[in-house]
Amino acid sequence: MKKTTFYFVMFVLLGMLMPFNLIYADGSNKIFEGAPCINPPYIIGNYPETTFLFYIPTSGERPMAWEADNLPKGLSLNSETGIISGKVTDAGEYTVTLTATNRLGKDKQQIIIRIGEELALTPPMGWNSWNTFGRHLTESLIMEIADAMVKNGMRDLGYAYINIDDFWQLKERGADGHIQINKEKFPNGIKYVADYLHERGLKLGIYSDAAEYTCGGVCGSIGYEDVDAKDFADWGVDLLKYDYCGAPFGQQEAIERYTKMGKALRATNRSIIYSVCEWGQREPWKWAKQVGGHYWRTTGDIGDHWSNKVIGPGLGVMEITDMNASLSEYAGPGGWNDPDMLIVGISGTSMSIGGNNKGGCSDEQYRSHMSLWCMMASPLLCGNDIRTMSRETFETLTNRNIIAINQDVLGKQATRSIRADYFDIWVKPLSNNEMAIACLNRSDKLLDVLIDSKTIPGLTANAEIKDVWAGRNLGKLSDGLNVKLEPYQCKVYIFSGK
Ligand code: GAL
Repeated sequence: MKKTTFYFVMFVLLGMLMPFNLIYADGSNKIFEGAPCINPPYIIGNYPETTFLFYIPTSGERPMAWEADNLPKGLSLNSETGIISGKVTDAGEYTVTLTATNRLGKDKQQIIIRIGEELALTPPMGWNSWNTFGRHLTESLIMEIADAMVKNGMRDLGYAYINIDDFWQLKERGADGHIQINKEKFPNGIKYVADYLHERGLKLGIYSDAAEYTCGGVCGSIGYEDVDAKDFADWGVDLLKYDYCGAPFGQQEAIERYTKMGKALRATNRSIIYSVCEWGQREPWKWAKQVGGHYWRTTGDIGDHWSNKVIGPGLGVMEITDMNASLSEYAGPGGWNDPDMLIVGISGTSMSIGGNNKGGCSDEQYRSHMSLWCMMASPLLCGNDIRTMSRETFETLTNRNIIAINQDVLGKQATRSIRADYFDIWVKPLSNNEMAIACLNRSDKLLDVLIDSKTIPGLTANAEIKDVWAGRNLGKLSDGLNVKLEPYQCKVYIFSGK
């Protein structure tokens, strides 16, 4: 063999063996190891003249220092904390170059800050209290979750919102016309929690309902939309999940009720993400964005299980997937289908969604659930107790390669190109002419699936393949990729260079 050919072959072989990205496969928390890597989101929307807050998610060894070039007027970066904050008056699209530097190197990344009428230009990421804790939420729980998110590195993978769900309120509205905070649970009030989160570059979500009472039977917002929206803004709230228990069935009434709160939120002095939660019963994908919504539930509540055929209550991951699958045309930057929050790592411990130590999924099933939600460009709101999660759960929630697919700036929801009895194939166009393809084994048997240029439109034999969860380059597609799937496994690939 000629020397040049030998080097070329070695180069290709090494390329195939090298992980193409940071991955935490051995269970140690590698988020705080190695050279810097600035993680998505790479596009951020904010309303003009409202407070802007963005922590630059960055993996790599600490200490770390950040720089930002070309920040729009009104914003400044704290180079030690990595938090960009301020207020921009002029609408426009600003391209900013971020640099993160540590002892081992540097990473540069261009991001876009778009000041205008859209928020949630990529699916929101964070945590919500409902799926594990139900009514048992407290101020200290929320603050401990924030601490955990900072300490375990989830914040550096893009998780930013910490959302208080039902039961932070008392049942009756106060004589002064304001919702009363349950002081047993939140002795220092909501603003205190919001300030604590904001100091860490995190954001606070809250919950109300388009009727007199919420699903849990505490105070809702109907008739007081302006008062409540203003209170939320004064407290520093960044997101509102607006539920629909106790409200009329018709679509028109729902549109009216959601419009009122949408307008009230927009009239505040904050950029507040608006989550429409009427469980997909009135085709919200057709109207929720027009009423100011940034994501809308497309299904009933998720349960902590893989499929309804096995165990209830709540919908299984498979049933939800099937309901959300056909709605991809409605999703895009600024407005996303929401197939409900993640159940990764709840493992039968929920106090609200059918726990009682029943249910739960295997780690493989939770990983597939994460893959599907990323492919479907869903909001990534985990709901497990992130203070105490297992190594497997942590790895599922913090794999930067799968998150990058969710956060891709093109903002496309995957379409399902094949739905066979035992498997699905999903295709998600990505920016840079890349394409993510997921193969899901829905069965409890081993399965072989072939991906080739005949079955997937747009693929050519020349496409380069990366295995997302394994973090490996696999070379060219050539005659096809034979995918071997474990029971319930979902493998995800990125194809580039068609
Ligand atoms: C449901 C909603 C859940 C949770 C719950 C609180 O309507 O879908 O996600 O918010 O109410 O009571």
